[in-house]
Amino acid sequence: MSTTQNSQKTRWWKSPDVKKTFILWLIVTPIIGYVATTVQVRAMGAPASEVMASVKSLMAIFTWAASPVAGLVAAMALTSLLGKRHYGDNPPAESEHEIAESAKAASVWVIVSTLLCLFALVVGLVVFQKDSASLLDAKAMNINATGQQWVWNFDYPDSPGVRSAALYLPVDKPVVFHVTSKDVKHSFWIVQMGVKIDANPGYVTEAAVTPNKIGVFDIRCAELCGLLHAYMQTKVHVVSQADYDAWLKTQAALEGAA
Ligand code: CUA
Repeated sequence: MSTTQNSQKTRWWKSPDVKKTFILWLIVTPIIGYVATTVQVRAMGAPASEVMASVKSLMAIFTWAASPVAGLVAAMALTSLLGKRHYGDNPPAESEHEIAESAKAASVWVIVSTLLCLFALVVGLVVFQKDSASLLDAKAMNINATGQQWVWNFDYPDSPGVRSAALYLPVDKPVVFHVTSKDVKHSFWIVQMGVKIDANPGYVTEAAVTPNKIGVFDIRCAELCGLLHAYMQTKVHVVSQADYDAWLKTQAALEGAA
C-alpha cells in the first residue's frame, strides 16, 4: 500500500530502530528464558511423580518457547524508552507506518503465532494423553477423596471402614482418586505430584498418579470455596508398602475398637 510513497526511502528492516530492536531482542530473549525458567522450576519444587516431572519440563519448554515473544515486546519497549524522547508542547511528528502497513510483517506475525499455539497444543495433549492413560491401569489401587468446607477426607475402598484426614499411599503403586464434594466446588490438588482435579457435589471425577518418592507432600484445595479456602489443606504420606500395610492394620484396628 505504502510502497510507492516510501520507495525512495530505506526498507523498514534497514531502519536504525529496527536494527536496535533486533539486537536488544537477541540479548533480552535468553535472559528472560533463563530467569523465567529457573524461577518457575524452583517454585514448583522437587517432583514426587512422573506426571509432575513431565509437567515441570513442559513448563520449561513453554517458557522457553514464549521467551522470544516476551523478548520482542521488551526489546520494543526498551528501544522506545531509550531512544524516543520528545520535549516541548508540540506533538511529535507522525512516525512512519511502514511496518504496521506491511502485509509481509503481518503474515510473518500471524504464521509465527499460529505455529507457537499449535506447538503448545500438541505438546500439551501428548502429556495429557500419558496422564489419562494411567486411569485405565488395572493394577491401580483406589482412594475416595471427599472435600467439604474446609477439610479433605480419604476412604480406602480396598480396606472398608478406614478413613483418614491425612492421606497415606504406598510408593511406586499406581493410584486412582475418585473425587467428590459434600457441599460446594473444591479442587483436589497434590502439589508435588501434578494432580489437580475439581471436586464437585453430586459428581465423581477421577485422577490418577503413581507416587515415586517416599516423603510427605502437600494437598491443597485449588478452588475458591469460602472463608477458610486457604486453610483447606492436608498432607500425603508416601511410605513403603510394608509401612503402608502396617498403617492400614492400625487404622482397621482403631475402626474396630471404636
Ligand atoms: Cu475447598 Cu477451596
